[in-house]
Parts: sequence; structure tokens; C-alpha cells
Amino acid sequence: MAEQQATATEHRPVLYEAALEALAVRPRGVYVDATYGRGGHACGILAALGPQGQLIVADRDPEAVDHARQVLGADPRCTVLHSDLAGLPTALARAGVAGAVDGLLADLGISSPQVDSPERGFSFQRDGPLDMRMDPGTGESAAGLLARASVRELGGILRRLGEERHANRIARAIVAARDAGELPRTTHELARLVERAVPRREPGRHPATRTFQALRIAVNDELGQLGHFLEGAIDLLHPGGRLAVIAFHSLEDRRVKRFIRRSASVGDLPPSVPVPPEGCQPRLRTVGRPVQADAEEVSGNRRARSAVLRTAERLP
Ligand SMILES: C[S@@+](CC[C@H](N)C(=O)[O-])C[C@H]1O[C@@H](n2cnc3c(N)ncnc32)[C@H](O)[C@@H]1O
Repeated sequence: MAEQQATATEHRPVLYEAALEALAVRPRGVYVDATYGRGGHACGILAALGPQGQLIVADRDPEAVDHARQVLGADPRCTVLHSDLAGLPTALARAGVAGAVDGLLADLGISSPQVDSPERGFSFQRDGPLDMRMDPGTGESAAGLLARASVRELGGILRRLGEERHANRIARAIVAARDAGELPRTTHELARLVERAVPRREPGRHPATRTFQALRIAVNDELGQLGHFLEGAIDLLHPGGRLAVIAFHSLEDRRVKRFIRRSASVGDLPPSVPVPPEGCQPRLRTVGRPVQADAEEVSGNRRARSAVLRTAERLP
């Protein structure tokens, strides 16, 4: 099934069956795919919906939105939104579905078409401009960030968002190149600079992997986006509605895990309080255990190796 989806959509959806199972799609329900990509998961949801069901898909990438309009635009059950995760709760409230959503999926990170397009600048495997914006129409590109950030700021980004041991060395090398009028302009130039700056290679990993991850997360404010989305997500759900999030690195997954844990607990009430007061009740229930891709999926799709799916259900 996933194989067929990959051919149809140029992106092989990760944890496809597990995500659909997590959403427990009901034919008359209202579902949201917050990160359409190339529609692998969205098409699976749509296939399980009946004529009364509703599917809203969104993405911050205009190319993904165009794709969604082409694939789903003629289906009266579907609505396509150009929205980032942070703005989605407001956009969905405006669309009149706040409190009415039966399933909300966010499959984080980047899609294969984004990675594979040199002009998007996400990958050092392909030479292209240092852009890295998921929505090239807004915000600062990676080139813009490198052109203005201090050693301290760059070092912090590489350490915090890339968990890069040589963060300061790389940051100093970037700023030195800038001062010499030799700031990297392309993905290959940046990858070569990092290679030269790093004293030792991690086995099995290109020395620029962590730098590219960190810059991408910073440029797209991925952790801030996720935080805003999660804060708004519960109010969108109908009681019994499901929130399913697929994260691709530990910084994201940790946030999802903590958010669900916090929303599923009543906090530290003293034992003398038998019933949690209004406002202190848990709002979510954890559904099942976190799911990771099995060896078979990972062997066919390397992107799946770090994916973790967490699911929660809105309590009444
Ligand atoms: C892993 S892909 C999703 C793939 C999709 N589930 C499929 O099966 O085709 C991630 C998508 O999420 C989008 N995305 C990532 N962060 C986002 C954000 N903060 N707001 C909106 N879209 C985001 C990316 O543009 C990309 O298209």
C-alpha cells in the first residue's frame, strides 16, 4: 500500500498504517491533515471517509498546497488551506470546525520533494542556494541567517538544534568566512566549510548533517511552530477525537511526549483533594504506546528510521 502511495505522490508516507489506525477514521467524521506533503496520509484518510465525511488538509509549503489543490480540489469533502502549524488552530476555528475535529494528524519534518529539489536548499547532497524555508514566501532564508548571525547565535543554534559537538568551531568558521567575503552561498559550499572545520567525522554520518538539521529547524522555527500547534490542538478536537503526531528527531518528540503527558495528568494535587477542581482535569488520554517503524519499513525508506508516532484522545 505504502509502495503505491509513494509512486502516486513522490513521497512515501511514514508509518502509514499505524497513523491511520491511530486516527480510527469514522466515515462521517471531520479529519485534518496538518502537514499534507504529497498527500500520502491524506489520501488514506479520504479513502476511509464516506460521502458525509470531511477532510481539511494544510501545509506551509506552497508547492504542497498546489499539489493538494490538484489532487483533492474537486472533491466536495475536501478543503485545502495554506497555513503553517502555528496558525492552523486559528484557521480551523475560522473554518468553523473548532471542537468538531475527530482526528488531527501532523507528520512533521520535510517531504522527499523538498529534500530532492536542489533549489530549496535543504540537502547538502544536491547543490543549490541556501534557502531551507518550507514557505519560501516568508521569513529569513538560511543564507540570510548566516549573513547576519553572531558566532554566539550560530553556535547556540548548532548546539541546541543540531546537538553538534563542534558547534563553536563551525560557527567561528562561518563568521570568519563571512568576514573574509567568502560566506558560503550554496549547500555544497557550506558542506565543504563544515567538513574543513570539524576535526573528526562521526562514523556513518556526513559532518554537515547536524549543521543542516539545525539551520533548517531554526529557519522554520520548527519547535516554536510545534508548541503553538499543540497548545491549540486540544480545543479543535471533539471529545473522543484523536491527535496523532509523527516526529523525526528527539527535540520534537520530547515536546510531543511532554505535552501529552502534561495534558493527560491533573498536576500535583494534594491527596486531600479527592476530585480535581474545574480547570485541573486531564484533557487528553494517551492512546497506546509510541510507534516506530519496523525493520522492513526502514529498509525500504530510510526517513522512517527516526520516526515516532504518538497518539492521544481528547477527554470529555
Ligand atoms: C513529512 S512531510 C508530510 C508528508 C505527508 N504526510 C505525506 O504522506 O505525503 C512534512 C510536510 O509538513 C510540512 N510542514 C512541516 N512543518 C510545518 C509547519 N510548521 N507548518 C505547516 N507545514 C509544515 C512540510 O512543508 C512538508 O510538506
